[in-house]
Formats: sequence, structure tokens, C-alpha cells
Amino acid sequence: MSRGQFLIRGMNLAIIGTGYVGLTTGTCFAEVGHKVVCVDNNEDKVKSLRQGKMPIYEPDLEDMIVSNVSAGRLEFTTNLKDAVRDCEIIFIAVPTPPHEDGSVDLSYIEGVSREIADALTPDMGYRIVVDKSTVPVSTGVKVLQVIERYSHKGVDIDVVSNPEFLREGSAVYDLLNPDRIVIGADSQRAMDMMKRVYQPFNAPIVEVDLASAELIKHAANSFLALKISYINAVSAVCEKAGADVELVAMGIGMDKRISRHFLNAGLGYGGSCFPKDVKGFINVAEQLGAPMELLKEVERVNTAQLERFLGRIRKKLWVLRNKKIAVWGIAFKQNTDDVRESVAVKLIKRLCEEGAEVCAYDPKAAETGAAALAGYDVTICDDMYECVRDAEVLIVATEWKQFATANLVKVRELMRLPILFDGRNIIHGENALHAGFEYHSIGRKTLRPTED
Ligand code: UDX
Ligand code: UDX
Repeated sequence: MSRGQFLIRGMNLAIIGTGYVGLTTGTCFAEVGHKVVCVDNNEDKVKSLRQGKMPIYEPDLEDMIVSNVSAGRLEFTTNLKDAVRDCEIIFIAVPTPPHEDGSVDLSYIEGVSREIADALTPDMGYRIVVDKSTVPVSTGVKVLQVIERYSHKGVDIDVVSNPEFLREGSAVYDLLNPDRIVIGADSQRAMDMMKRVYQPFNAPIVEVDLASAELIKHAANSFLALKISYINAVSAVCEKAGADVELVAMGIGMDKRISRHFLNAGLGYGGSCFPKDVKGFINVAEQLGAPMELLKEVERVNTAQLERFLGRIRKKLWVLRNKKIAVWGIAFKQNTDDVRESVAVKLIKRLCEEGAEVCAYDPKAAETGAAALAGYDVTICDDMYECVRDAEVLIVATEWKQFATANLVKVRELMRLPILFDGRNIIHGENALHAGFEYHSIGRKTLRPTED
């Protein structure tokens, strides 16, 4: 889609919460011609954004922010009141982190709802408050109650659910090319206005009630997590049976009813969404009296996958204490600096706890990784080859492309022992073998150089 192709009239939109979701969503709305104000209560973040400094790494985002700011379609502020006054639609994209028991912490959503209520006055005319954050079913109804309770009499509002399906690392692409747009509204007036927001995106719109939209998000993310756990459970069987999980995934994925997407076996899913959304869905289903036991098994398989991998490394090295282990990848997936719930971080922590000397490298997550690993005796390298110098094992923990295309002969020469554990199945096994490695991966036979 090219810029400016479509809109008859751009709308005035406010996005509250300028994180991975809010910042990319707001920028893409501006890109298609809307006038967007991004609000955040973090003054430093807003100041940096105004100076053109990016708070996160996300491909293509920086250029798009710069061009839309200079076109006058995108601005940043801490002033929620003015944004509510000036914008007909207000999107909430603040965090919804998990509590200890798996239930969702909705205090940021509640707090922002009260701030919106404070800012609303009857003379402003009709306003729509849209929940973009992932929330348990029935949150929208509660947001409406809070706004009605705390605002002046006579304000005219609707609350809508419009979940976001972007993946970090390809967020701009996902936003501009969505498979579908889900809008949950209990009023036709709100639905019609929301359809105008998305008119430029040229994607099918799923028009549903508020509760169904909220459930679609939890159910979609949990289903994707289930697919990953399914193939990871299959990978364990493959290892025992001498089969190849990549071939199995290809064979089952060619059935259109299943599809090959999200069937990559690895160290398990991480990130700010899947772990918390699976937990959140389990929790809300339990509270509603319709428990989703199936999802508990999804979590169990996800945790077991890392344990199994660690067990195989332990078996190979016998003792981890004082072994030099290089880890490629700290981010929870490729193309991001985000380390929230990263399996790579969990792996590094476990190796350190067992006394290994860990040296880690990530193309974008060195800084965020260092913060997440504070207190652990780990060296973070700024060069992927330096990272492996004198190492006894190299572990690939994140699926960055540059690890797949690394010069393995050079890596082998720098290492002390030729042992490679590929936790994401991204290295070409034959290449590793030719470089002289013993190659361990997920759900596939170990490849060992033959003695001449
Ligand atoms: C978050 C949630 O984790 C996710 O469930 C939801 O779907 C969307 O929002 P993300 O964008 O990744 O996802 O969160 P984060 O990067 O932490 O950004 C949230 C932003 O909201 C931060 O910039 C924070 O400063 C801001 N914020 C938080 C507010 O502006 N007001 C608040 O009250 C709380
Ligand atoms: C996810 C959803 O895909 C997105 O629709 C939603 O809006 C937010 O949550 P995100 O967490 O950004 O997006 O990344 P995603 O690409 O889904 O990967 C999540 C985790 O699953 C990563 O740790 C990744 O390594 C892992 N994964 C993904 C696998 O292990 N195998 C796969 O086949 C796919």
C-alpha cells in the first residue's frame, strides 16, 4: 500500500500508551492519512520522541515516524486532556501485565479510563474509547462503567474493542497488511466510525459484539501458542524416534487446514504476549466456570522444552561449572530489541546459575539484555565472532537471520570445542558438519563428523 492513496478525510485519533503497540499503531494510522496524537505519561519518552529518538527498535518505524511528524500528521504529548478534547476516537494501548496468579493487572486500563472520564465534557460531542490492549473478556463493559461513573453527566461515548495482531519485528508490515481487522462494538454508530478509520487498509473487517472481539484476541494468541507447543511436543517424539521435526512440520503444514505458519519447533515461545495471554485466558476461563485445561498443557510443554534442551547440553558437557558457553541471541525473537519473557534470557540465567561462563551476543538487544541480566555474571559482546572465542559450546537461542548465514568455518576456528546447539533450527546442519561441528538441534538427529 502506498501513502496517501485513499483517505477522503483523515480523522483525529489519540493513542494512549506509546509502547511497542501504541507507537507503531499510531504511526501507521498517520501513514494512511489520519491526524494522530500519541500520549504517554512517561515524560522522558515523549521528550525523546519529539527529538526524533526511538525508544524501541522496530524495522521501518523510525523513517515512518520522521516523515509523518514532518507532514504534520503525528505528534507526541503527555497531555491526555488536550488529546481527548481534540480527537474523536481515543485508543488505549497501555500495559496489561500478569499478576502472580495469572490474572491480568487492569490497573493501567482503569487509571487511563478515569483520566479520560475527567477530560470529557458534554460540549465535546460524541467520543469513542477503543481498547487496543489485550484484555480479558468483559473489560470493555467495565471501562464504560468507569467512564460513566467519573465523567460529567451528559457525555456521549461508546466503548469499542479493536484488538491488535501485530508481531514485534514485523509490526509495521503487519499493521499495514492485516489479515483481518476485528471491531467489537455494541453500537452501530461506533462501528460505522471505526470502519472509516480502517477504510484505507483494504482488509476484511470482522464486525462483532464487544465481548466476542475481546475473546478473539485471547483465543487467537492462545491458539498460536498451542500450535508452537504442539510442534515442540512432536519434536520431543522425533528426537526419540530418530525422525526430523522439520519434515514433519512441512508434511502436516501443507494441509491448508493446518498451515505451516507457527509450526517452528524451538526453545518455546516468549515475548510480552503469548506467555501472559495464555495465562490470562486460562484465568478468565476459570473465573467464568469454563476452565481451559488444554492451555495448561500448552504452558507445561513450553517450560519443558527449555528444560529438555538444558538436559541435552548438560549430558554433552557433563559439568557446566567453569565451561565457557557462547549464546547467540538475547531478544525473545528476531528483529527486535525486546527481551520481555525471552527464553534466551531464561537460558542464560540458568547457565550462569550452574556456574558456566556465559558470553552472549545479540544484534539489537545488547542494552535491554544487559538490564534483564543485571546481577548475573554474563559478558555481553558486541561482535558475534568475538563472542565465540575459546567457547566450548555455541548455543543459538534466537532466530536472527545473521546467525543462519554465519561463517561457520571461522566460528569453528575461534572455538575451543566444535559443539553447536541450535535451539531454533536455523543453521543448515550440513554446513555445520562441513565446518567440523557436532550439530545438535531440536527434533532432529544429531550430526557428527565421521572419523577418517
Ligand atoms: C502493551 C500491553 O503489554 C499489551 O497487552 C497491550 O496489548 C498493549 O500495550 P506494549 O505496547 O508492548 O503492550 O507495552 P509497553 O511497550 O510497555 O508500552 C506501554 C506504554 O504505555 C509505555 O510507554 C508507558 O509509559 C505507557 N503508559 C503506561 C501510559 O502512558 N500510561 C499509563 O498509565 C501506563
Ligand atoms: C504475537 C502474535 O503473533 C501477534 O499476533 C500478537 O499481536 C502479539 O503476540 P509477538 O509476540 O510479537 O506476536 O511475536 P511472534 O512472532 O508471535 O513470536 C512469539 C514467540 O513465539 C517468540 O518467542 C518466537 O520465537 C516463538 N515462535 C513463533 C516459535 O517458537 N515458533 C513459531 O513457529 C513462531
